[in-house]
Parts: sequence; C-alpha cells; structure tokens
Amino acid sequence: MTTQIARQAPAVLPGPNEPCWCGSGSKYKKCHRGADAVEARKKGADVQRRGISPGIISPRRSVPAHIPRPDYAETGRPVRSPELPEVKSPDVIARMRRAGQAAAKVLQMTGAAVRPGITTDELDAIAHEAYIQLGGYPSTLNYHGYPKSLCTSVNEVICHGIPDSRPLEEGDIINLDITIFLEGVHGDCSATFFVGKVDPDSERLVRVTRECLDLGIAAVKPGRPINDIGRVIEEHATKNGMSVVRAYCGHGIGERFHSPLQIPHYYEAGADTIMKPGMTFTVEPMINLGHWQHRSWDDGWTAVTADGSRSAQFEHTLLVTEQGAEILTLP
Ligand code: MF3
Ligand code: CO
Ligand code: CO
Repeated sequence: MTTQIARQAPAVLPGPNEPCWCGSGSKYKKCHRGADAVEARKKGADVQRRGISPGIISPRRSVPAHIPRPDYAETGRPVRSPELPEVKSPDVIARMRRAGQAAAKVLQMTGAAVRPGITTDELDAIAHEAYIQLGGYPSTLNYHGYPKSLCTSVNEVICHGIPDSRPLEEGDIINLDITIFLEGVHGDCSATFFVGKVDPDSERLVRVTRECLDLGIAAVKPGRPINDIGRVIEEHATKNGMSVVRAYCGHGIGERFHSPLQIPHYYEAGADTIMKPGMTFTVEPMINLGHWQHRSWDDGWTAVTADGSRSAQFEHTLLVTEQGAEILTLP
C-alpha cells in the first residue's frame, strides 16, 4: 500500500505543530510553511495588480491671463476669510445659476469623449479647454495643490482620482467630477460613465447611485434638517446591498468651493442644520458595491475602496427654494 503524496497546499493549512499537508510526516512549521507563505504573498501581489495603478501625471496646464481666478489659484491655499453666510444673496444665486449651467456643459462635453483607449489625461485636456471656452477657471486646478482640471475616478477609485497616462479599458466605469469658477462663484457636478459595455454589477451600481442622488435631491425641503438627505440615500443603498462612503460628504458652495456646511450621505443625527431657502450645497453620494471603508494612495488624493470593490458617484449643486430644491448644474 502506498500513500498518495499531495503536491498542492490545501485551502485550509495545518497548524504549525500539526503534520504537514504534503504527507512527509514532519511538522508543518518545519516543512512547507515557509514556502506556502512566499506563494501566498505572490498571490496577494497579483490581486493588487488587478486594480487601477497610478500612471504618469502630465505637466500643469495653464489658464489664459484674461480668465478670472479664485484666491488659491497661485498659492494653492484658499484665503481664510470670515465665514460667509450659507444663505446666499439674489446676486450670488443668479451668478451660481450661470456657473452651474457652465459646469454641466463641461461635464457633458468631457463625458462625450469617454471611450476605450482614451487616457484620463486626454479627458483633462478636453475639460480644461471647455472651461476656458466658457470663460471659467477649473476650480480644482491648484486647489490645495491638486494638479489637474477635473477628478477622474475609475472603478474602485471612490473620488479625487488624478488624470494620468492610463488609457480607459472596455468595461471600466469612470466618474468625471467637474467644478468651474465663473463670475466669482463655483458650480460643482459629476457623473459616472460606462466605458463600452460593463458587467451587470457595475450597471446596477451606477443605476442605484444615480437613484441615490435623485432621492437625496427629493429630500431637500426648507424647514427640514440636512440629515433627511443622508437618511434616504443610506436606506436606498443598503436596501440594494451596497454601502455609502462616510469619509467624503456634500458641502456648502458659492463664492468658496467648500464652505463649512457638510452634507453626509448616511444618516448622521448631528447633521441637524435646518435647510433654508437660499442655501446652496452639493449632494454627491459615493456608493460602493462592497464595504464603505476607504484607503488613500500616497499621492495624497486618490481614495479607493479598501476591499477593491467598485464605487460610483453622481453630484449636483442645489439651491434650496420655498418648494424644495432647484438643480443648478443642468446643461
Ligand atoms: N469636486 C470635488 C467635490 O465634489 C472636489 C475636488 S477637490 C480636488 O467636492 F482638489 F480634489 F480636486
Ligand atoms: Co465635485
Ligand atoms: Co462637490
């Protein structure tokens, strides 16, 4: 009688002092444990390589001198000015309508260029030209040192992906996040696009995320607390087996890109500021197919899902009205 000698490590490995899986009769720790650890590390590296990896970031694009720029354009640091009111004057609101419409147009023009093979840097060039054509400055350019004119967040990238040399691949999903500074105010919007044909889970993710934004907008009502918005978004995401990113929120917007008002996309009891007509803020849910936890790349910007699952996002800039919300970022 001969014993079959196993060649491949089983899925469940022996304890250190148990007999090795190979049938040698030696303790596992004296036999295959070291080799198995090396193999496991190799597989781990393969898993990481399957995701998006950082590409090359091109030199900074310039903005013609005649385009008015925000206070941080040269230094990278927004000027610390006294808090501006979250309820805007009719004059600011009128300018925000025009900035919002311009942002939506840039998003439309850049989104139309999404196809397999185009690099995210080429999308940056298209967006950059579009902002300038409309007389606006790309709000992200040098904002706290951010190097590009939009954020391009592919697959498991949650937000703040930096345009680089990576060509889009059939089956990718990509969020384009556009913010314009026009007439002294910012308009901020984003959408997730399909690159060719995508898998059914990605289709479902993008549809549910879009629905989350729509439900969040429908929850905007004067006299109600901000946390009504996150409540309906979280409910819809979790009902569909998805999760809501917690680290990044919607924000007050106007003469400043990000004002202190925060809009969580999950239910947060403390977010009890009452919505008032004239307030302007963004709703921009980031929804993950897996868990909500994120990791940051060492570029200091790119946020990815911790579990490698895909993430989608849609964003609008809104004005609270007597009836509900007016969407400012429509083309
Ligand atoms: N547009 C993003 C938002 O929705 C902010 C991008 S800031 C950047 O708030 F610096 F990362 F570009
Ligand atoms: Co944005
Ligand atoms: Co925003």
